[in-house]
This record gives sequence, structure tokens and C-alpha cells, in this order.
Amino acid sequence: MLKILVTGATGNVGKEVIRLLQSYDCHICAAVRNPNSAKQILGSNIPSVSFDFTNPDTFANAFVQVNKLFLVRPPALANIRKQIAPVLNAAKLAGVEHIIFLSIQGAERNRFLPHSKIERYIEQLGIPATFLRASFFMQNFNTTHLQDIKTRGELLMPAGNGKTSFIDVRDVAAVAVRTLMEDGHQAKAYELTGGEALTYYEVADIFTSVLGKLVRYSPSLFKFVQQMHSSGLPMNFVLIMVGIYTTTRLGLAGNITSDVEQLLNRSPLNIRQYVENYQQFWL
Ligand SMILES: NC(=O)c1ccc[n+]([C@@H]2O[C@H](COP(=O)([O-])OP(=O)(O)OC[C@H]3O[C@@H](n4cnc5c(N)ncnc54)[C@H](OP(=O)(O)O)[C@@H]3O)[C@@H](O)[C@H]2O)c1
Repeated sequence: MLKILVTGATGNVGKEVIRLLQSYDCHICAAVRNPNSAKQILGSNIPSVSFDFTNPDTFANAFVQVNKLFLVRPPALANIRKQIAPVLNAAKLAGVEHIIFLSIQGAERNRFLPHSKIERYIEQLGIPATFLRASFFMQNFNTTHLQDIKTRGELLMPAGNGKTSFIDVRDVAAVAVRTLMEDGHQAKAYELTGGEALTYYEVADIFTSVLGKLVRYSPSLFKFVQQMHSSGLPMNFVLIMVGIYTTTRLGLAGNITSDVEQLLNRSPLNIRQYVENYQQFWL
């Protein structure tokens, strides 16, 4: 039976990939740093294996009999040569037949992005792959930006008046599962976006209307850096976020594609549906 190793299994996308894979005839294995806490998140019926990108001793066991790898780069790991390449070497050695890599919109244009380096390294190794180049996740609003929205009714990001073609991670995961379980997706890259591109002013209006409380957008760069850093995020991570929001401000995050619709045979979820479905997070 097909064995699929899922990295980032306790994270936004991986968790949903595991949930969806359960209705298929395949052997799922969650590659996790802490199998006990993973059980609490994923349920005790999901097989898991100890795996840490930063600990090569965990690789060989994790890749035993694995046919396909769902690869998520943990956001904190930016040194691709040291922290991701060794895992890919181990995958190659173990004979992994197909990698579905959660990449980012624009990876093909910006060679400095860690995702771009990973894509090129996978190609260099010659492992058949599918790159899922996703736009901004809607779920950033209930994770990274949760407290700002909940406690101050504020969307704080230095994105100016730029538009973003937000995607729901439930759609990213649905596409990932499709490309894992169906033939014909090797050597392909998909740009996964929502069906509309909105400014953060427009997003704030949707939050206000769904939650029934005022949510305002603040594009202040200074306040963003101060707030993110004082919430405990390391400065290099905050600066990466500033870089990402700068691309939005420059109008580079609004591209809309039909890839999700074509792969799922339905429209992508929209921001209003997302805020309605997740509203308990901010109330
Ligand atoms: N946010 C966006 O808008 C966006 C858009 C496009 C692409 N992306 C890309 O998507 C990826 C993040 O996906 P996500 O949001 O689903 O993940 P996430 O929720 O940030 O979770 C990160 C996952 O990585 C695991 N992890 C962290 N360090 C690890 C290590 N050393 N070894 C093994 N596992 C480790 C975590 O497991 P633990 O339970 O052990 O912590 C967790 O499962 C990033 O590469 C990001 O750039 C994000």
C-alpha cells in the first residue's frame, strides 16, 4: 500500500492533509518532533514517527518504505543547505518516488526565497516533484495575527493598499491530497490562490461585518515591527514578514489563478466563508 510521510503534520496545512488522507486507502505517517503531543493534535489513530529536520539521526527511520513525501518547510528553518538539504538527501537515498512541496507564490521569480532554493535542490536531486506555490494563508489571521484582532480589533501589517489573493489552508490541503493520490502531477507547479484579491482595508470590513465588532486595518511598519518583536518573535523572522508584506504593498501578491478551481472542480473558499467558519477564534 502507498505510504505517505507528512512533515509539518501538526501545523496548519499538514494537519488538514492528514485529516483528508484518512478517507483514502493509503498508509499515512506523521513525521513529528514529539509523537506524544502530536497524538493530542492528530488523534491516537494516526501513526507517527520521530522526525526533526535539525537531527539527521531521525531521518533513516522516518523514510523506511516511504513512497511519497509531503514536505513543509518549518518557517523558522531558513538555512536550506544545513537544515533542509540533508532531509532531501535522505529522501533520495530511501527511494522516495514523489515529493509534494508546499512552496510559496513567486518562488519561481525570487531566487532568494528559501522555497525557491528548496525547489531547485529537489530538481537537482532528480526526485519527481509537484510544487504547490501558495499565496497568503487566510489562517494567518487566526494564528500570527490572532491577538491583534481579538484584543485590539486591529489588522496590523505593513501592506499598504496592496491586494492579496488569500487562500484557505483547507484548499491548499485538498489540492495537496489530490496531487498525492492522483497520477499526472509530477514535474508540475501550481500557483494556489483564492478567487478574489482584496486589500486589508476590505478584509477588515469583512471581519467587522461577520464578527459584529469594529476591526480596523493599520498599515504602520513601525508599529508592526515593535508589536511582533515584543510578542516574542525573533527579529530575523519579523524582518522576513516585513519583506513578505512589502511584496504585497508593491502589488505583487494579488495575482489570481484558476489552478485551485481546476484541481478541485469547485471555487476556492473565500474570506467571508473563512471568517464565518473561524469566528470563535476572535470573539
Ligand atoms: N503563512 C502563509 O501565508 C504561507 C503562504 C505560503 C507558503 N507558506 C509556507 O508554508 C510553510 C508553513 O506551513 P504551515 O503554516 O502549515 O506550518 P506551521 O503551522 O507553521 O507549522 C510548522 C510545522 O513544522 C513543524 N516543525 C517545526 N520545526 C520542526 C523541526 N525542526 N523538525 C520537524 N518539524 C518541525 C511543526 O511541528 P511541531 O508540532 O513540532 O512544532 C509544525 O508541524 C512555510 O514554509 C511557509 O513559508 C506559508
